[in-house]
Amino acid sequence: MTTNKRHELISLLAGQDDHYISGQALSEKLEVSRTAIWKHMNELKKDGYQFESVPKKGYRLIAKPDKLNESTIKWGLDTDWLGKRIEFRHEVASTQDLAHALARKGAEHGTVVTTNKQLSGRGRMDRRWVSDHDGGIWMSLILRPNIPPHQASHMTLFVAVTLVDTLERVTGQRIQIKWPNDLFIDGKKISGILTEMSAELEAIQYLIIGFGINVNQSSEDFPEDLEAKSTSLGIESGQEWDRQAIIQNILQDFEIAYQLYLKTGFGPIKEKWLEHAYKLNEKIHVKTAQEEYAAIVKGITDDGALIVLNDKNEEKVIYSAEIIW
Ligand code: BTN
Repeated sequence: MTTNKRHELISLLAGQDDHYISGQALSEKLEVSRTAIWKHMNELKKDGYQFESVPKKGYRLIAKPDKLNESTIKWGLDTDWLGKRIEFRHEVASTQDLAHALARKGAEHGTVVTTNKQLSGRGRMDRRWVSDHDGGIWMSLILRPNIPPHQASHMTLFVAVTLVDTLERVTGQRIQIKWPNDLFIDGKKISGILTEMSAELEAIQYLIIGFGINVNQSSEDFPEDLEAKSTSLGIESGQEWDRQAIIQNILQDFEIAYQLYLKTGFGPIKEKWLEHAYKLNEKIHVKTAQEEYAAIVKGITDDGALIVLNDKNEEKVIYSAEIIW
């Protein structure tokens, strides 16, 4: 039996939740003999999967190995459309690049691309994103929202707010959002979001929402130049986290929040964003190509730009600038 069939078998069993599926049904669906199914289950047991078999009922998956892959993410995932297709790679150059390639080939709305390690992870403004470590969550979502291209900026802020909600609930940590979309705990970066889009004038073809979350890295796992600025959920909470459980929570919350955004628009997202805004009403320093000034953070506009007051008490709206926090 091929590895593909093995994946299919696990996917089938994982998709059954608590229900049993008979050996006959498995063999028909996978188009292999019942003996092959049985042999294959024995192989999977060696990998840490556990099955229960009940005469006249069939098989049920009761435990999965503690490692990330397509089926461990799918097992117990309670979503309608997000993550119905999961593209998992043990390692990849960048999930963002793989997601673009899949989207160009027509991958459906809600496809999830994830990996243990990225060899060329990238961040905003073409910066590197260090992710050659399997302690983090490195993920890109392919979305095909029916919104005009100028509203795509909402999505980045929407993702930031949704990740904050999930990570605060699951880990009990207090998380802040540094404009436009870095997640911080106690002044150190825990997560970054990269939203990219392919669009025509009137319509979005697809959005790729990539995010990286530092989960179980220790401080030595960060390169020297990032050590003082970065942290992980593990460092902050003093405990190791189950990445698979965090991913499932993120995908479930994301799906609900996304449907809500389509119904209620940006208002509630903006409110939540402000509740978590890093350095709100505090001093920062702004540098653009034309000018440089001290300012105070006041909020965000309806299209996600930063509102500040400059040293002459004038309101300024910042779309892009170097900000010294
Ligand atoms: C940033 O802070 O500049 C954004 C970082 C985004 C990193 C994620 S990890 C998954 C996806 N793949 C990438 O190469 N980048 C994004």
